[in-house]
Amino acid sequence: MFMLLLLLASCCNQAYTSDVDPIFFSFSTFDHDSCADDGDLICWGSAAAGDGYIDVTPMPQQTNTTSPPVQLNKVGRILYRYPVLAWPATISTTFTVRISKDPNSTSSGDGMAFVMAEDSGPSPEKSYGAFLGLLTRTTKSGTQLGVEMDTYYNNEFDPDDNHIGIDTDSIISIATVGLDNIGVDLKLGREVTVKINYNGWQKKLQIYAAYAGAPLVSVLNYTIIMAKTVPRSVYVGFTGSTGIVSESHQILNWIFNSVPLPHDSLNDGHDSSEKRKKILMITSPVVSGALVLAVIAYIILKTRRKKKVKTRKGIDIESQTRSAANTPKMFSFRDLSKATLNFHKDNLLGTGGFGSVYRGVISDPPTTIAVKRISATSKQGEREFLAEICTIGRLRHKNIVQLQGWCHEGDHLLLVYELMPNGSLDRFISKVFLDWQTRYKILTGLASALLYLHEECGSTVVHRDVKPNNVMLDSEYNACLGDFGLARFFQNEGAVTTMLGGTPGYLAPECTYTGRATPESDIFSYGVVVLEVICARRCNGIIGQNNIVDYVWNLHGKGELLNCVDRKLEGSYAEEEMKRALAIGLACSHPDPTLRPTMRKVIQVFMNPNEPIVDVPDSRPSAIYVTVYSQSPSSTNMLGLNTNSSLSSSTISEKTAAPLGR
Ligand SMILES: *[C@@H]1O[C@H](CO)[C@@H](O)[C@H](O)[C@H]1NC(C)=O
Ligand SMILES: *[C@@H]1O[C@H](CO)[C@@H](O)[C@H](O)[C@H]1NC(C)=O
Ligand SMILES: *[C@@H]1O[C@H](CO)[C@@H](O)[C@H](O)[C@H]1NC(C)=O
Repeated sequence: MFMLLLLLASCCNQAYTSDVDPIFFSFSTFDHDSCADDGDLICWGSAAAGDGYIDVTPMPQQTNTTSPPVQLNKVGRILYRYPVLAWPATISTTFTVRISKDPNSTSSGDGMAFVMAEDSGPSPEKSYGAFLGLLTRTTKSGTQLGVEMDTYYNNEFDPDDNHIGIDTDSIISIATVGLDNIGVDLKLGREVTVKINYNGWQKKLQIYAAYAGAPLVSVLNYTIIMAKTVPRSVYVGFTGSTGIVSESHQILNWIFNSVPLPHDSLNDGHDSSEKRKKILMITSPVVSGALVLAVIAYIILKTRRKKKVKTRKGIDIESQTRSAANTPKMFSFRDLSKATLNFHKDNLLGTGGFGSVYRGVISDPPTTIAVKRISATSKQGEREFLAEICTIGRLRHKNIVQLQGWCHEGDHLLLVYELMPNGSLDRFISKVFLDWQTRYKILTGLASALLYLHEECGSTVVHRDVKPNNVMLDSEYNACLGDFGLARFFQNEGAVTTMLGGTPGYLAPECTYTGRATPESDIFSYGVVVLEVICARRCNGIIGQNNIVDYVWNLHGKGELLNCVDRKLEGSYAEEEMKRALAIGLACSHPDPTLRPTMRKVIQVFMNPNEPIVDVPDSRPSAIYVTVYSQSPSSTNMLGLNTNSSLSSSTISEKTAAPLGR
């Protein structure tokens, strides 16, 4: 009965919030069209879109003594076109800025701000200089909130020329913090990432900052009642200004979300409802989740015990403490369906073999997530589910998608991951351009994920489905390998395959015959991905039909290897580096699994310019593999049989006997 009351209470809570939807948007980059009239952004004043950024105030122009400086007293403002809910809500936003002062001036100025504004109009008149495009002398209270990144020292009211502050109705900030003590200088032209969270229950504004790529550091906490600071519905964006010195302020990326809270979050006495929520979260999924927990605990215990024997003590302790701090947690189906707006089709990110992936937002702490809903119609789906939790749940690597949690209630099977802002790699193969440096970073990241799975995670894990759709990209385009639905612990001693996983085109040729996935078959798939990324060309199905491996190998045979490289790169890459990458791609897609390099060798070739490059035969050895099973499957034998009459099998072994660093 008590439970029932709790449930009812929480339903009422929800009734308050259901009239407003959570808002999520993200700009992983900007381009020349970002300020277009029909786009999602409104650009005012000096704001203008560039290639990869938006200028709030433009770059300092070449000043020369005969012409007056032109970039002074500029004001720019960029706003998201649609209003967002400011309260009652929990808000989180992260963005990267690049501020460059005029190199020929000893001074700087003036700075920029994240703003929650009452309307979508331009900055107030004469809000240049110290007013940051945000305020005037007469700005009314209750209309806006700004978080300034101030680069000019107004000595009446600023701590220094490098600080973050909170502004409401005056340029005299209600709170400030200098960034010198965390070693960040805003105006060096370096990319700085800032994250702002507002917790609508606790009324706490929390600001974090760091150079892009470094871990964010908490710099300022401030309690502020949003309902007294801004209207309920606001426009969010950025403002910036210059005064007597020019300075460029650029936005490079931006993620924002606002999750509505129940109306009683506006009260101060919110503790009871928060507790109620917690109890509910804990109790409702307990029964259905207990079984899954038991299975996981059992498997974790089992693998732990195994691992202890295998690994050195230091490593074992480290991996245990790390996993304890960050283990996947259980979600209730209600939470996840709320987070994704009942799995609304607008939140659908993609559909894969065993289900669909939705974007969602959870409020505590405010996080954007990807929810994979597994179609539970088949036993297959359920098995995939358990395999995935067990495998990915205990893996920790910066190039592997982190499992945040799961849900198993009745027929519902769901997995929760962190959301990767740049989606999956397949979008970038032929549709969206990436420069060579980024592609190189992706390929090395993917290689180190596979090395970890194959050799470093305690047991041998075979991914089984390495392909661009399963490689996610984070905000800095680091590769994160995901979708472990098909991965299983590789058992040397068992021929355990029931079903052939993998995707045609990426599936190693021997798998068709052996029906077994091995680290070598992952390496084959990796080779195909390498070639796709370099050539910006899809792999095109199975061998023979204009397949990418054949295509590149043909060019290699003709001594025209570099002709396969994506023309859009316009030759802007180091030739030696490209050749090494292509050699890796070809060597990995060698038809003979025993002649493929290991992932360790691949990493060495990528990382060390002095590492001997892997040799690749001039023509693609064409071979089929016959597997001979004897009583003990571990004595499986593979014979390379020649199907191409112009080559005898001895030619093949001669050609393939080249050193591959195994
Ligand atoms: C800075 O001064 C140098 C030397 O006078 C000049 O070559 C350069 O163009 C100036 N840069 C800017 C941004 O004004
Ligand atoms: C300086 O400005 C004048 C007038 O705009 C222009 O004619 C001249 O080319 C400029 N000099 C340089 C070095 O940019
Ligand atoms: C802000 O609050 C969080 C959580 O309470 C704390 O971890 C952090 O250190 C605080 N930051 C500052 C700058 O006081």
